[in-house]
Amino acid sequence: PSCRRSIVRRAGWTAALVVLAAMAWGAGAAGVGAAPRPGVPETLRVGTDATYPPMEFMEGDEFRGFDMDLIREIGKRLGAKVVIQNVGWDGLIPGLNNRNYDVVISAMTILPERQEAVDFSDPYFNAGQIIVVRKGDTRVKGPNDLKGKVVAVQINTTGQFASEKIAGVTRIDKYDTTPLAVQAVMQRSADAAVIDLPVAVELVKEYPGQIEFVGKPFTEEYYGIAVRKGRPELLKAINEVLQEIKRDGTYDKIYARWIGR
Ligand code: ARG
Repeated sequence: PSCRRSIVRRAGWTAALVVLAAMAWGAGAAGVGAAPRPGVPETLRVGTDATYPPMEFMEGDEFRGFDMDLIREIGKRLGAKVVIQNVGWDGLIPGLNNRNYDVVISAMTILPERQEAVDFSDPYFNAGQIIVVRKGDTRVKGPNDLKGKVVAVQINTTGQFASEKIAGVTRIDKYDTTPLAVQAVMQRSADAAVIDLPVAVELVKEYPGQIEFVGKPFTEEYYGIAVRKGRPELLKAINEVLQEIKRDGTYDKIYARWIGR
């Protein structure tokens, strides 16, 4: 009988443990609104160069724009808290590899050279380079007209790389931000700026009557979210929720909010 009682007692303890474990698991999963995914941190730290309307920019101390809405939506679906840091463009990839944050979203074009340093998510946005000139300046109609001209770009962007491929450009002036490159055009220290289309559209709206863009984009580029190499589970999880966001119409809502038609 004493033996029987101890078996009963042991079974009771086991049952209690199972119940407690189930409760803890349930609370953990329910608490963040989604089942935890392997390789996804509790807090998703994000690096961006928030000088890039309408993709990422500051309004007071708030991060706003297409990329900011997209990454917050991704974080929500991954069950991660999103914390965003403003980082100079040139420091974004070094900071990612230095583990200062988990991902970079910054209208960053997927390039083979960059893929040597970091991994990219599936493409989430189609952009291209366009030329911005002072309003009414009819000298430049396309890339070949940049021959003999001073071109302003944001340093180490695809705008710089595209300008370097155009023969006979007098000089390429490299600025820390894209708005500074565009201001150089307005102030006549450069003839043209080469920048991403969505930002050109936005800056033309911000400086009405001062600048315009010419022609159509002359490169084809895709933005991706950068993740440090060696984090395949995080990358996979991001790609999965990105798919969902595209499929269920949330992507289109974010697009309509920041880009329009
Ligand atoms: N798409 C261009 C590139 O990847 C420019 C991106 C600049 N982004 C920014 N947030 N400043 O080179």
